[in-house]
Amino acid sequence: MSASDRKILDVLNGKTVSPPPIWLMRQAGRYLPEYRETRAKAGSFLDLCYTPDLAVEVTLQPIRRYGFDAAILFSDILVIPDALNRNVRFTEGHGPQMDPIDVDGIEALEVGDPLTHLAPVLETVRRLRAELPHETTLLGFCGAPWTVATYMIAGHGTPDQAPARLFAYRHPKAFEKLLDLLADISASYLVAQIDAGADAVQIFDSWAGVLGEEEFERFCVRPVARMIRSVRAQRPGAKVIAFAKGAGLLLKDYRRKTGADAIGLDWTIPLSFAVELQKEGAIQGNLDPMRVVAGGSAMEEGIDAILHALGNGPLIFNLGHGITPQADPANVTRLVDRVRGKR
Ligand code: CP3
Repeated sequence: MSASDRKILDVLNGKTVSPPPIWLMRQAGRYLPEYRETRAKAGSFLDLCYTPDLAVEVTLQPIRRYGFDAAILFSDILVIPDALNRNVRFTEGHGPQMDPIDVDGIEALEVGDPLTHLAPVLETVRRLRAELPHETTLLGFCGAPWTVATYMIAGHGTPDQAPARLFAYRHPKAFEKLLDLLADISASYLVAQIDAGADAVQIFDSWAGVLGEEEFERFCVRPVARMIRSVRAQRPGAKVIAFAKGAGLLLKDYRRKTGADAIGLDWTIPLSFAVELQKEGAIQGNLDPMRVVAGGSAMEEGIDAILHALGNGPLIFNLGHGITPQADPANVTRLVDRVRGKR
């Protein structure tokens, strides 16, 4: 058997696979009782990310339950600021927090050797590739520089990333320096994941949607293009999915400008526009996660509309963003069956 037994790699090479392969963003998570059980044993969320035995276990849980076509490494985009000594914490009910960075902090950033800090994550990737079924694609990932920078500047999540937008206008040089530094560290982290056994990688730009056209170009397109160029210079042919959530019409030239093999679409992207984007290459998405919470005909109609519009081209079926804790695991079984033509 060869790597092309992995359907998602075929789609990333531009092929149409029918029915389309499927995985879900945040497929390992709180909606699964077995995740909550392992999570309770781990202590802190970062302990879970940095303990290969436990991280492998939670990565495999949704594969065992649903037989998804891809497993995504269990980790978080904020392990990069953690590796940069920003004192990252995940406290119950507060979301992620870290020490907010300022201009002097950017000048003084101790880059050190982030890959040494991230060695347990790379060990998780190695073990996963050994333990996963042959046909399951293993996805590595990291956050895009803009999205990671928004947390580093605010010190926590915000609804509109006003602190990072303001910082970028006030201190354009320092901000550009931060983005470039994150791009270079993240590219070497992705290369290390590929070397450890990841078949493809996804770059999450979850906060792309709060930017104007010019800022999207400077803060999202340019750094992600720099990352993909760097990864491919080191590992020719590396497969990359780029997900710029909320980017809407700005996705028009995103694939060409970044060099991504597939682009992730959120649920606000009209299917007619998705069809246009699919003419240029593979797309991934884009069911509204709330349709999975609602279940029933709301979920079925959403699935059918995507399959009807996009099923005859290169498609990786996914949600338009992560599955939420209130989703019923039984609805995910129905979702997978329907995409695979079983009900
Ligand atoms: O299954 C998978 O998709 C792999 C694991 C994964 C997690 N985070 C685990 C996680 C992935 C790919 C991420 C990416 C991530 N992390 C993003 C980009 C994707 C997105 O959802 O927009 C972002 C912005 C983060 C940062 C982050 N991590 C936030 C804002 C939070 C708190 C909100 C929340 O959902 O709880 C986290 C915590 C987190 N990351 C959890 C999980 C399973 C929940 C924490 C817990 O179980 O205690």
